[in-house]
Amino acid sequence: MTLILGIETSCDETAAAVVAETGEPARPWQIRSNVVASQAAIHREWGGVVPELASRQHVRDICGVYEAALAQAGVNLADIGAVAVTQGPGLVGSLLVGVAFGKALAWSTGVPVVPVHHLAGHIESLTLAHGELPLPSAVLVVSGGHTSLYFIEKPGRYQLIGRTRDDAAGEAYDKVAKLLGLGYPGGPAIDRVARSGNDRAFEFPATRLTHADRNAPKPTADGILPAEIARRVDFSFSGLKTAALRLVRERTGAETGTRAGKAASSDDAGARLPAGEVGDIAASFQRAVVEALLDRTFEAARWLDAKSVGIAGGVSANSRLRGDAEARGADQGIPVFIPPIALSTDNAAMIGAAGLRRLRSLGAGAFDFNAEASLALSGGDGDHGSRR
Ligand code: KG4
Ligand code: ZN
Repeated sequence: MTLILGIETSCDETAAAVVAETGEPARPWQIRSNVVASQAAIHREWGGVVPELASRQHVRDICGVYEAALAQAGVNLADIGAVAVTQGPGLVGSLLVGVAFGKALAWSTGVPVVPVHHLAGHIESLTLAHGELPLPSAVLVVSGGHTSLYFIEKPGRYQLIGRTRDDAAGEAYDKVAKLLGLGYPGGPAIDRVARSGNDRAFEFPATRLTHADRNAPKPTADGILPAEIARRVDFSFSGLKTAALRLVRERTGAETGTRAGKAASSDDAGARLPAGEVGDIAASFQRAVVEALLDRTFEAARWLDAKSVGIAGGVSANSRLRGDAEARGADQGIPVFIPPIALSTDNAAMIGAAGLRRLRSLGAGAFDFNAEASLALSGGDGDHGSRR
């Protein structure tokens, strides 16, 4: 049974983990350690991730995080049988730190190194936490950089059936939080203040994508879903973000196009709103996002006759999304799987898990892969994609 070391440095978390194979097909992997050094405090000051600062901090943290992962697992480097590292997508300077570290470690100890697609990691966090999902499954990956729906008919085969046409859901959370003066990262902040807000206080527009859309691309799920449905399971969040901006301008009395109006789009505009109103806007915005995510996921699941729904990625840490997904699943008689919070947001245990999946289906690969800022995930057995 192989012990794999997972490494993740795609954005602003430096992470390393040790994951073991169990030999049990229904529950194939077990976490031995899962260490994450978050850079949130560094980027908070700037209101978002600053790529150059992120790369530099990964360089500072990677050795200590790796040593802590081995120590917490109670193992030595000689016990590690393979290294898995996030190849992309992400910030290329950040990815490079993990890729260089992972390759050097594997090369020097004579073990294979497995390049892993970040979203394959998020998807495999579900199996890592709950064992193999009942298949076929409709899996929503919802994070700061992605909002994508996958159809999984067999383990390790990821077929993209829907994605966002503009912003990712996590990105919308972060931008609206900034607008409300809630700081970075915005998702957890909106989640918190929304608890005391009225989610019916404001009506946010529900985006419906139809064939009449002028810029509608060829549906991703063509051939998997009927064309009509395929278009309906794409996402769009930029309209919601604009609606929130207008609302804040209205409530703060700022006029559009004037200096004051521009100020309303800056960080402190929301700070001028009464706390109750911030809670109401956050709760109403969150209701709209969660409904959009779940409507499409469950619609796809119904059409695909899925035996389970999975929800993974940073936004799956959201309390309302978790609660509403469970409720819909119970209502529609379809089991819903969501990772525990530590496996929802970026971590290296999920990269170790996806690395083991790939190692077992494709075998050890070559060392000549590079970090890729854009990388598509689709298709073949354990195939983590190609350049976009
Ligand atoms: O998967 P992740 O850690 O990194 C990426 O791959 O992007 O996702 C980060 C995103 C951020 O946009 C963050 O605001 C969001 O996940 N997030 C949340 C919550 N916790 C993290 N969004 C809503 N509610 C949360 N509780
Ligand atoms: Zn992620």
